[in-house]
Amino acid sequence: MMEYNRVVAAYFSGTGTTEKVVKDIANKISGNLNIEYTVMDFTPLKSRKKPLVFKDSDIVVFGIFTVAGRVPNLMLPYLETIEGNGAIGIPISTYGNRNVDDCLVELQDILEKAGLKTIAGAYFSCEHSFSNVLAKGRPDEKDLEIAREFADKISEKVKKGDLSKVELPGERPYRFYYQPRDRHENPIDIRKVKPKTNDKCTDCKLCVELCPLGSIDYDNVTNISGICMKCCACIKKCPEGAKYFDDKGYLYHKSELEELYANYNETKYFI
Ligand SMILES: Cc1cc2nc3c(=O)[nH]c(=O)nc-3n(C[C@H](O)[C@H](O)[C@H](O)COP(=O)(O)O)c2cc1C
Ligand code: SF4
Ligand code: SF4
Repeated sequence: MMEYNRVVAAYFSGTGTTEKVVKDIANKISGNLNIEYTVMDFTPLKSRKKPLVFKDSDIVVFGIFTVAGRVPNLMLPYLETIEGNGAIGIPISTYGNRNVDDCLVELQDILEKAGLKTIAGAYFSCEHSFSNVLAKGRPDEKDLEIAREFADKISEKVKKGDLSKVELPGERPYRFYYQPRDRHENPIDIRKVKPKTNDKCTDCKLCVELCPLGSIDYDNVTNISGICMKCCACIKKCPEGAKYFDDKGYLYHKSELEELYANYNETKYFI
């Protein structure tokens, strides 16, 4: 039977919810099996200069957040470079309380294609990137309890030497990217929307560091010269609250989400 000697918490996380969930699960597995724990955070642009390379003796808890019901398409080229080398892979998709749609099965397929064995997976409802009220504060204690229970189940499966592939919810072929609509049912296109900066900015440059796409100019932080994926890292993590979106379509979509998905949506694991 294969000896597993390392648990890896691998994640892409704009506002930190995916990081929290993945680390919680990975930490618990590491404690249960009494093996090393390491973090591979591929959120910063510079961390993605090198591919993620795993060993056959790794258990990789691999988290990404749902974007338009799918794995963020801007990350696909990088995810194609993963070298799984037969490691165990646990796909985790966080979502902002609307729907995970096909993000989790797409992530499973990416990991399998890269040579990881996906023996379990989960989705977690978390605070929405765009909002301070939608699924506010999640993952909460209840979610993290589920995370730890899930980690225990994974540990048991690994101890039994059971590497059977898990069946995850979602459709194949994947549905097209979720399209927000305005009150007249016209599509809202937020792809070109970029954050603005107000005069509370102290020019600390933190957002330049944080932007996972490296899109904020160092010499002029009010200038977003590259692509913006609306991850909201710069919005939620700016210590002065100086970054904001004012695009009408974006704000309409945000308030609609807050209204329609105010319920407590589920966090669920599969093994
Ligand atoms: C551009 C974009 C699109 C999103 N699309 C969805 C979606 O289709 N469904 C959903 O429930 N949440 C969606 N979310 C919300 C995030 O998946 C969710 O808030 C997640 O917890 C954020 O993870 P993070 O804190 O690790 O960045 C979207 C977020 C962004 C930035
Ligand atoms: S993190 Fe906020 S205060 Fe710092 S440079 Fe960016 S916008 Fe300005
Ligand atoms: S500029 Fe866009 S992509 Fe960069 S941190 Fe801000 S919201 Fe995220």
